[in-house]
Amino acid sequence: MKLLVIGSGGREHAIAKKLQQDTLVQKVFCAPGNPGMVQDGIEVVALAENDHAGLIAFAKEQEIDWAFVGPEAPLAAGLVDDFEAAGLKAFGPSQAAAQIEGSKDFAKQVMVKNQIPTGDYQTFTDYSAAKAYVLQKGAPIVIKADGLAAGKGVVVAETVEQALDALSAMLEDNKFGASGARVVVEEFLAGEEFSLLAFVRNEKVYPMVISQDHKRAFDGDQGPNTGGMGAYSPVPQIPQEMVEQAVATILEPAAQGMIANGTPFTGILYAGLIATTDGPKVIEFNARFGDPETQVVLPRLTASLAAIISDLLADREPELSWSEKATFGVVVAADGYPGTYHRGMRLPTFSQPDISVYYAGVAAKEGQLVANGGRVFLVEAQGNDLAEAKEKVYQALASVQLEGMFYRSDIGAKALQV
Ligand code: AMP
Ligand code: GLY
Repeated sequence: MKLLVIGSGGREHAIAKKLQQDTLVQKVFCAPGNPGMVQDGIEVVALAENDHAGLIAFAKEQEIDWAFVGPEAPLAAGLVDDFEAAGLKAFGPSQAAAQIEGSKDFAKQVMVKNQIPTGDYQTFTDYSAAKAYVLQKGAPIVIKADGLAAGKGVVVAETVEQALDALSAMLEDNKFGASGARVVVEEFLAGEEFSLLAFVRNEKVYPMVISQDHKRAFDGDQGPNTGGMGAYSPVPQIPQEMVEQAVATILEPAAQGMIANGTPFTGILYAGLIATTDGPKVIEFNARFGDPETQVVLPRLTASLAAIISDLLADREPELSWSEKATFGVVVAADGYPGTYHRGMRLPTFSQPDISVYYAGVAAKEGQLVANGGRVFLVEAQGNDLAEAKEKVYQALASVQLEGMFYRSDIGAKALQV
């Protein structure tokens, strides 16, 4: 097979690397990719995610078997629809189905219609109506920009004042532009978070092993929300029954609800969940693989990823199998991330043979990789248990110079307490 992965982050590096290692696969292209992927044998193609015509022409010229669309923006822009209209195969939701991530209000409506457990909410475009609702409900309360905001459009307000500030920034000062012109105000849910991803083809749902991300920038879950600073799998503090309950009460009704809604979903459905005392509840749906969850989930997949996607696209039953090993990944970010950050720092090379590096915000300069984004790279390792995998990652990170960059030193702390 010849395959094309679309995107440029650590998630796409992990997807492309997994496909590249697959015996069914002859060649993997990644557009636009990043220069860190090249060392894994992935060929990067200088075509932007939003260059639909260019990507389609390239896929035809190279006789690509199918494309895999990694990030949310090209899904929301209808890249899969455009590939299909051109007679090409692409794995990912249609533009209409990608609204499950692209509009939090759309996602909430699907949940309400299908009795999927989630926090109470109301949607507002008007500041004074939103303010009245917040005053009535009190704090803690969660304020979410309706549209895409790269994981940064959510404010967990501990006080009414913080909630009103967030509402004012979104509805009055247009902090997130059109994405924040509509706001979902949601009940605060307490409990342990986990990410449950599944391969979905219409009503068929094939869950993956669960993982846990760390959304805040700094140790002890301090600082602003980010795209994700580290992840690990399995998540021992989440019992297997909780996962099974989430598949039955959340993923399966979501897949069925999307069909009933006239927006059937094919692709990766990502449920961001909180394990509450009343069972698992949804905090968000994404229409794609998570970053950094993918970098710890895909290494545990022992079945062929290329075969799974090919089977799903052909309406065949895929075969999934998972390693019992634990995986652990820590993101190295540029100082200042998720605010304004530095670029151009030289990246270290690692000598440890048993770690993998997944590159994200990097550029090539005079034959060297340099930092060129907020999240720069992620170091991942496997172990017989989480403690062993963690040790490998942190030892590798401690063995190199990381000037102008930082990472969290407490990834997995909650899992290792149990
Ligand atoms: P999201 O971008 O929707 O994943 O939200 C970012 C983070 O905000 C989540 O990972 C949670 O830690 C937190 N969060 C979102 N919604 C809620 C909620 N209803 N209750 C508590 N925390 C939440
Ligand atoms: N790690 C969270 C996300 O990909 O949305």
